[in-house]
Amino acid sequence: MDMPVVISGGARIPAIGLGTWDVRGRTCARAVEQALRLGYRHIDTAEMYGNEREVGEGLRASGVRRDAVFITTKVWQDHLAPAEFERATKESLVKLRLPDVDLLLIHWPSPRIPLVETMGALCRMKQAGFARNIGISNFTVPLIEEAMRLATAPLVTNQIEWHPYLDQSKPVAACRRHGLSVTAYSPIARGRAAGDAQLRLIGMHHRKTAGQVSLRFLVQEGAIVIPRTSKIERLEENMNIFDFELNADEMDAIRKLADPRGRVVDWSGSPSWD
Ligand SMILES: NC(=O)c1ccc[n+]([C@@H]2O[C@H](COP(=O)([O-])OP(=O)(O)OC[C@H]3O[C@@H](n4cnc5c(N)ncnc54)[C@H](OP(=O)(O)O)[C@@H]3O)[C@@H](O)[C@H]2O)c1
Repeated sequence: MDMPVVISGGARIPAIGLGTWDVRGRTCARAVEQALRLGYRHIDTAEMYGNEREVGEGLRASGVRRDAVFITTKVWQDHLAPAEFERATKESLVKLRLPDVDLLLIHWPSPRIPLVETMGALCRMKQAGFARNIGISNFTVPLIEEAMRLATAPLVTNQIEWHPYLDQSKPVAACRRHGLSVTAYSPIARGRAAGDAQLRLIGMHHRKTAGQVSLRFLVQEGAIVIPRTSKIERLEENMNIFDFELNADEMDAIRKLADPRGRVVDWSGSPSWD
């Protein structure tokens, strides 16, 4: 089966990608290789994950053509001043051993560097041919608006935490208004969703696991999902979400799991922008 894609700002982004945070060394290279052999066509990495070298190794070991794979990387918060941004981007490409990435993101906005400077640097990376597409991550509604105002090239995604325990309707609506896709990170809430009794019950009606229900829910909400696993059986499980459909009642029941304290990624070090 061809991998479904989400089209945004001219980019064709495979609807599921492999997350690689906290997966390093041989384990990372093997997970990327196995995922691509199984049919994944989208890998999510970042300068901050310390595994770009191994992501590149896994890509080459898989034997899958470079052009058939969508590779995302991100510039970390400490490198958002323009000169640093360019240096970090080039270092990522050296580690990946690629001339360009499919998507380059600002990993996390910084209150110390004016966004106008970072957006200028991001757009120049596309112009220079280091990134085929560009986007943002962890941008709140006011920052999405500002980024859209400042961008001189299309932004294609905002990568944010999103799973059944977190109501992201406001940033998602802001992204939609601007034609920006949403990439859901921590889409199984770092494992919590996979053990959820209600998701498991819904899954039983479709012969699917709770983890698959969580991922399917997000895909039906229009998101791109990037679950992480280094276990081969889970790589397959997480990918097999395109052969069933949750009905409106099931979608509503899952939306009700949202909880104001539902975040699994720590935002305490970040200023609150909204
Ligand atoms: N932009 C950002 O700031 C940002 C922040 C966080 C994450 N991300 C990206 O998003 C990716 C995914 O998020 P995440 O890693 O935070 O969390 P996640 O994908 O929601 O959860 C990963 C955890 O769930 C387990 N798991 C995976 N599939 C499972 C399944 N089918 N059943 C049961 N358990 C399962 C994994 O364990 P095993 O490995 O043992 O299977 C792992 O412990 C990251 O890897 C990263 O690429 C981006």
